[in-house]
Amino acid sequence: MTATATPTGPLSSPTHATHVAHLEPVLTARHVSIEYEVDPPVRAVDDVSLTLHRGEILGLAGESGCGKTTLAYGLNRLLKPPAILRSGEVTFHDANGSDTDVVSLTGDALRAFRWDKVSMVFQGAMNSLNPVISVRKQLGDVLTTHRPQMGRKERDARSAELLELVGVDPGRLDSFAHELSGGMRQRVMIAMAMALNPQVMIMDEPTTALDVVVQRGILREIMRLRERFNFAVVFITHDLPLLLEISDRIAVMRTGRIVELDTSASIYARAQHPYTRQLLNSFPSLTGDRGSFVRTGVSQDAPDQEAS
Ligand SMILES: Nc1ncnc2c1ncn2[C@@H]1O[C@H](COP(=O)(O)OP(=O)(O)OP(=O)(O)O)[C@@H](O)[C@H]1O
Ligand SMILES: [Mg+2]
Repeated sequence: MTATATPTGPLSSPTHATHVAHLEPVLTARHVSIEYEVDPPVRAVDDVSLTLHRGEILGLAGESGCGKTTLAYGLNRLLKPPAILRSGEVTFHDANGSDTDVVSLTGDALRAFRWDKVSMVFQGAMNSLNPVISVRKQLGDVLTTHRPQMGRKERDARSAELLELVGVDPGRLDSFAHELSGGMRQRVMIAMAMALNPQVMIMDEPTTALDVVVQRGILREIMRLRERFNFAVVFITHDLPLLLEISDRIAVMRTGRIVELDTSASIYARAQHPYTRQLLNSFPSLTGDRGSFVRTGVSQDAPDQEAS
């Protein structure tokens, strides 16, 4: 096995090159570096280049503090001081054929890009639903802001449809956050991120705080929705074995850099970077049932029972 890598780029297998050769890009990051301007400055993302393809699930793995959330914010133009994009380009390749230079977006164009084209489920999102506003109002607010031409009836219908899509009874529209379980709240956050039919959804640890049964239910939902709507997903977690199950490809991040980027099958069968192997070995579940669900590139259904 020969590794293919530029001096500073991630390790990838020849299989990876074949895998991506015919895929259409939807979001491209080139040489992105992000710093927190504190004393001393922290280079949280260091020369990251990454292509997300239409409809794919790209897992982003790496230990706490390696820069996953910072990179996600950079891709979605959500960085706030003291974070600053030091260098690099981010390009969104719209399904309508146009390319958008994400870094130079401002004002209305930036607002129209976020949520509409690329949406995000934030880390810890299930605790960020507004406690004093009903689910109906929170979903409705996204639609009012981005689809001002929509009437109230249409908004309500769309909100109910969104809840149904993520497996929450639309009867919950008038519920408040404290009346929902953690899993339901997280599903509502996913519904919100899906509200405008984005082409890319960035999900930052969307299931980490949930118990394993609820987590698997949500993962299956995300995979089903992806099949149906063909949005691409950047799925962020430190749980590499989980990514092996749900991702088409995986990027392994360490101290601000992507050290390995490959298909899930290649990472599972022959991870090249010692750090990736270390991450794999730190999860004993990999050799059990979960390992058998590694995506192989061949169409494979997720198991249908809640827990496995
Ligand atoms: N506001 C900030 N000011 C200074 N440094 C920061 C700030 N936010 C994050 N960092 C630093 O940037 C680095 C990357 O942080 P980031 O939150 O992106 O990591 P992460 O991979 O998402 O971690 P986790 O898995 O814990 O969510 C860390 O070293 C962190 O300490
Ligand atoms: Mg994070």
